Amino acid sequence: MMINLKNIQYQISHKPILQNINLNIQEGKTTIIMGKNGSGKSTLLRLLNQIIKPSSGFFESNLPKPVPMLFQKPLILQNSVIYNYQILKKIKKHQINNTWFEKFNLLSLSNQKMNSLSEGEKQKIFISRIMSFDQSQLFLDEPNQSLDLQSEKLLTNLLMKEKKEKTIIMTLHDFEIAKKIGDYFIYLENGKILLQDDYENFFKKFSF
Ligand SMILES: Nc1ncnc2c1ncn2[C@@H]1O[C@H](COP(=O)(O)OP(=O)(O)OP(=O)(O)O)[C@@H](O)[C@H]1O
Ligand SMILES: [Mg+2]
Repeated sequence: MMINLKNIQYQISHKPILQNINLNIQEGKTTIIMGKNGSGKSTLLRLLNQIIKPSSGFFESNLPKPVPMLFQKPLILQNSVIYNYQILKKIKKHQINNTWFEKFNLLSLSNQKMNSLSEGEKQKIFISRIMSFDQSQLFLDEPNQSLDLQSEKLLTNLLMKEKKEKTIIMTLHDFEIAKKIGDYFIYLENGKILLQDDYENFFKKFSF
């Protein structure tokens, strides 16, 4: 067990966003959170990474505090690509691993202003930035958003390698990618878990 949730509720000014969440996130596994727009995926991911606190229920995690994660709408600094890419390195004083930055071919964009990039280019910078830390836990909110098919394939292949040594928790809409990477699947509807199971059972039961 890495993260354990029992009867978790999360509400914003009395509006229930997550309800009755019972969940065990396993260390070393890849957990995929799926569901329609507004079902609560990003909220659950932020809650699992302790960015937000549940309104009630039991929560335990063996991570002492949030780790840098890939947000659905990352904050963009009005500086160069390389500045945005290395900002967390400056804050955390980490050594960084540039493998993803290089694989996504981002070097040629280094001196361009971040806000002049295409959406897909920005997304690649943000993914590469998270991957540059070599964290053993990855929290990724729709990592494939805005990516072209080729880049999405590269992302999938890179994640298939990462998953062997890491705990990954991610949200996704794409079932094909989910099937390639996932070990455990959660399907949210209106803030509730409709179905959660391992690969075989999830796709056997899944029919909505
Ligand atoms: N500050 C807020 N006030 C009221 N409702 C909110 C607030 N923040 C989020 N919500 C609601 O919480 C619900 C869950 O949002 P969330 O971003 O977790 O959905 P999601 O499943 O990630 O959707 P998407 O697929 O579009 O990314 C949505 O209905 C959203 O409108
Ligand atoms: Mg979301």
